[in-house]
Amino acid sequence: MIEIKGIRKSFGSLEVLKGIDLTISKGEVVSIVGPSGAGKTTLLQIIGTLDKPDTGSVYIDGIDVTRLSQRKLSDFRNRNIGFVFQFHQLLPEFTALENIIIPAYIAGTPKKAARQRAEELLQFMGLSDRAHHKPAELSGGEKQRVAVARALVNSPAVILADEPSGSLDSKNKAELHQLFFDLRAQYGQTFVIVTHDEGLANITDRTIHMRDGLLELSTLGSTGEGDDITDVLHTGDEQDESLESQSEAGVRA
Ligand SMILES: Nc1ncnc2c1ncn2[C@@H]1O[C@H](COP(=O)(O)OP(=O)(O)OP(=O)(O)O)[C@@H](O)[C@H]1O
Ligand SMILES: [Mg+2]
Repeated sequence: MIEIKGIRKSFGSLEVLKGIDLTISKGEVVSIVGPSGAGKTTLLQIIGTLDKPDTGSVYIDGIDVTRLSQRKLSDFRNRNIGFVFQFHQLLPEFTALENIIIPAYIAGTPKKAARQRAEELLQFMGLSDRAHHKPAELSGGEKQRVAVARALVNSPAVILADEPSGSLDSKNKAELHQLFFDLRAQYGQTFVIVTHDEGLANITDRTIHMRDGLLELSTLGSTGEGDDITDVLHTGDEQDESLESQSEAGVRA
């Protein structure tokens, strides 16, 4: 699913990533932990095609995204990768529903289908009655769930999250963490989550320790677990058909 080979990155004379190799399987929920300044955000931004490495490759479903042109890249990102940041970064002048719909419009999804998908996601997040509230009228936990829904609207195969629960209290934090696993079970997405939260790191399939621009040896490579997401995907008989077909499209993407 995600294969990272020989990633190096410097900012001026500061070498931030010193040769990162990492393989993440489809449907795996991986956490990246490590001290401040270790290079976690830089690595996540490179995986998410928001930044380019100096050397090395990032393959997502067999495509080396470091070689894509700028135009192809924004389209690839919009369709295949969902981002969740520490602070929700919702657009303040738009409602929850509109914030979720916008990336679908950018992807060229017809209006009616986009709205239906956004409404389904709001329902999945338990936020149907907040659809027409603007971010300022939502709680911190609600805003973060809207941000997750926005990340999911185009059914990306990969969700990248940088300190997603950093600004939440313990109850909202626990709910958000549970949500990641519910989403993996329902839609089969792959999650890479940078976190300082030990509780979250402990429940992920694998924890990658990063220090000083390198991964610690014990966390290299894939465990091989989680290779076959189809078991997980097909456990929910009651799942909504259109969501299922879209999620499968997302997983194939
Ligand atoms: N655009 C940039 N220009 C210059 N230096 C940068 C840039 N981005 C990051 N750095 C530096 O690179 C190093 C790694 O930063 P990064 O944000 O990846 O760390 P991190 O592991 O995410 O830390 P934290 O846990 O504090 O978020 C830091 O020393 C930081 O100051
Ligand atoms: Mg960071």
